[in-house]
Amino acid sequence: MRRAIFHRHRNQTPILRFTLVRQPSCPHLDEASWLQADQIKGYSMSDTVYVLNGPNLNLLGVREPEIYGADTLDEIAGGLEDKAKALGLELEVRQSNHEGHLIDWMHEAQAEGAKAIILNAGALTHTSLALYDAIRGIALPVIEVHLSNPHARETYRHKSFVGMAATGSISGFGPLSYELALEAAAKL
Ligand code: DQA
Repeated sequence: MRRAIFHRHRNQTPILRFTLVRQPSCPHLDEASWLQADQIKGYSMSDTVYVLNGPNLNLLGVREPEIYGADTLDEIAGGLEDKAKALGLELEVRQSNHEGHLIDWMHEAQAEGAKAIILNAGALTHTSLALYDAIRGIALPVIEVHLSNPHARETYRHKSFVGMAATGSISGFGPLSYELALEAAAKL
């Protein structure tokens, strides 16, 4: 099932894991059993990095390609999946045009015990005190990413509410910004 607005290709195993953990029709399995099921499959939620994308990033590939490049978000996520595999990480890649979804997903990442969050909040980066509060409100490392370099663009893009709360920021490298962020996440 494609959960949320944009939920990129998870392979079979994580889907199964989510089904197991969330499945109320198996009450005979207690928390320890679920954890054991995770361990048997060789991963844990602490290997999972959430990659959250905000408004208009669903338009990548057609949206101002001279600034954001020709790759679609799906293509960027595909490259990132390969990198994640090499680093022994699981990805949870999502996109929404709605601020509240990004906040809910950050809370979810914390509740699920994810390893880190990579966040490209799009224009909400420059306006959202709610995202600032959400990042401050969770204990997970949050890495701000941008395809373009907002500091080399219009002055209204120079302020970043995300950056003021994030663990660190990577911008200006196109899709490589995401890969560098993933490398950083792997070392946190
Ligand atoms: C962006 C930069 C933001 O200023 C802009 O609003 C975006 C994309 C980037 O990835 O370069 O939507 O986050």
